[in-house]
Amino acid sequence: MASTKYMFDTAEEGERDRLLAHALMWDPVTRRRLGGIGVTEGWRCLEVGAGSGTVTRWLAGQVGGSGHVVATDIQPRWLRSLDAPNVEVLRHDVTTDPLGESVYDLICARLVLTHLPDPLATVGKLLRALVPGGWLLVEEYDLRSLPLCDPPDATWHKVAAAPSEILRLGGGDPELGAKLTGILHAAGAAEIDTEAVALPRRMPEVLSWQAQFVQFRERLIDAGLVSPAEVDKVIADFDDDTCDLVVHGPTLVSARGRKGD
Ligand SMILES: C[S@@+](CC[C@H](N)C(=O)[O-])C[C@H]1O[C@@H](n2cnc3c(N)ncnc32)[C@H](O)[C@@H]1O
Repeated sequence: MASTKYMFDTAEEGERDRLLAHALMWDPVTRRRLGGIGVTEGWRCLEVGAGSGTVTRWLAGQVGGSGHVVATDIQPRWLRSLDAPNVEVLRHDVTTDPLGESVYDLICARLVLTHLPDPLATVGKLLRALVPGGWLLVEEYDLRSLPLCDPPDATWHKVAAAPSEILRLGGGDPELGAKLTGILHAAGAAEIDTEAVALPRRMPEVLSWQAQFVQFRERLIDAGLVSPAEVDKVIADFDDDTCDLVVHGPTLVSARGRKGD
C-alpha cells in the first residue's frame, strides 16, 4: 500500500492541465540543468514522478537508441503516450516500491519530494539507485516568494501566501526547495551544485497560474485563509489584460549532486 498522501486528485482531467502548465514553465530550467550534467547517448536514466512526461521525452532524445529512460509515477496515465522504444513507464511509489542499487547514470525528480513523508530518506534511496559517479537532480519549490509582487498589493499578498498553509496542512513542506542543498549533503552526495530560479511575470501573461487558485479556491476559503471576494479578485486579475501587477511566482530550487565512488 502506498505510504504517500498526494494532495491532488490524480484521476481528474484537470490534473493533466495542471501538470502540463508546470512542465511548460519549468522545462527550460530543468533541461539546462540536465544539459549541464552532460546527459548523452547511451545513458540509463530514471525520472521519478514524471507527471505529463515532458522531461522523460526530452531525456529519451538525449540518450538515443543505445540509452534507456524509465519514467515512474503513482499515476502513470499521462505517461502512456510516451511510446518511444527507449522509454519504459512504470506505476511506482518511490517511497515504498524498490528501485534497485547502482542501476542508473542519472535520476531526476521535479516537484515530487515535497509530497513525500521523508524527502531525506527518498534522496538516500535515489542515490543508492545510481551507479558510482551517477548524477541526481532534484527540484522543488520555495513558495516564500509567491506573495511578492510589484507594486505592493495587499489582496495578492494575502491570497498568494495561503497555498503554503494548505500544503503544510496536508503534510507537505512549502519551503523544501531551500532545504535541498542540506538534504543532498546529509544524504552523502558529492559535487553538490544548487541554483534558484523565479519567473516574475505580469498576471495576464501567466494565465496558467490561475488554474492553481481555481483549484485551491474552496480549500483556501474553508481553511479561513481568504474570503471568497479576495480569491475571486485574484482569479479575475489573471484574465484582465489591463492588469499590470507583476507577481514573483514560486522559486524553483534546482539541486544536483553525484553519488561518490
Ligand atoms: C507536481 S507533479 C510534478 C510532475 C513532473 N515531475 C513535473 O515536474 O512536470 C508531482 C508528480 O509526482 C507524482 N507522485 C506523487 N507522489 C508520488 C510517489 N510517492 N511516487 C511517485 N510519484 C509520485 C504525482 O502523481 C505527480 O505526477
